[in-house]
Amino acid sequence: MILDSPVNKAGRLKAVYVRTEQGVLFEVKPHVRIPRTYKRFAGIILQLLQKLSITAVGRREKLLRVIKNPVTLYLPANSMKIGFSHSSEKLVNMQKHLATVCNDSDTVFVLGAMAHGKIDCDYIEDFVAISGYPLSAAYCISRICEALSTNWNIL
Ligand SMILES: C[S@@+](CC[C@H](N)C(=O)[O-])C[C@H]1O[C@@H](n2cnc3c(N)ncnc32)[C@H](O)[C@@H]1O
Repeated sequence: MILDSPVNKAGRLKAVYVRTEQGVLFEVKPHVRIPRTYKRFAGIILQLLQKLSITAVGRREKLLRVIKNPVTLYLPANSMKIGFSHSSEKLVNMQKHLATVCNDSDTVFVLGAMAHGKIDCDYIEDFVAISGYPLSAAYCISRICEALSTNWNIL
């Protein structure tokens, strides 16, 4: 969802980090094209977990690569880190909330890419709920991206 967003196409996404339930952390480059079929997707992820990286065909650049924990090693210094959870008591309108947090510093958005359970991160300053309903992570990201596009006037 985030890779397909106009925010990414406009070059505003710096990096995506994913941590598996087993604690394997990997980086996804913003211009990577994730396979659209499950079979090809599973093949790429299997290759990533076995070989620790996926390289672009004909180039040396690593599009996906397993990296060392913790993720905080890679987050920009002084970045604002916002966590997302349906169970947060701070229910905000994403659009209005962005206007209060996104100024000059980088912003890190932390979501759970899993079906159940709350994300548990000690580096998050602000935990928000952006709807009164439990959403999928993909829908949440799409709401965040829409708010960012409006903020930055990206159509
Ligand atoms: C399928 S949900 C995981 C369900 C889990 N019970 C929870 O609420 O954290 C996937 C992720 O989407 C985000 N999310 C879902 N609903 C949300 C909401 N209403 N507000 C903010 N984030 C939400 C959270 O980051 C959550 O970890």
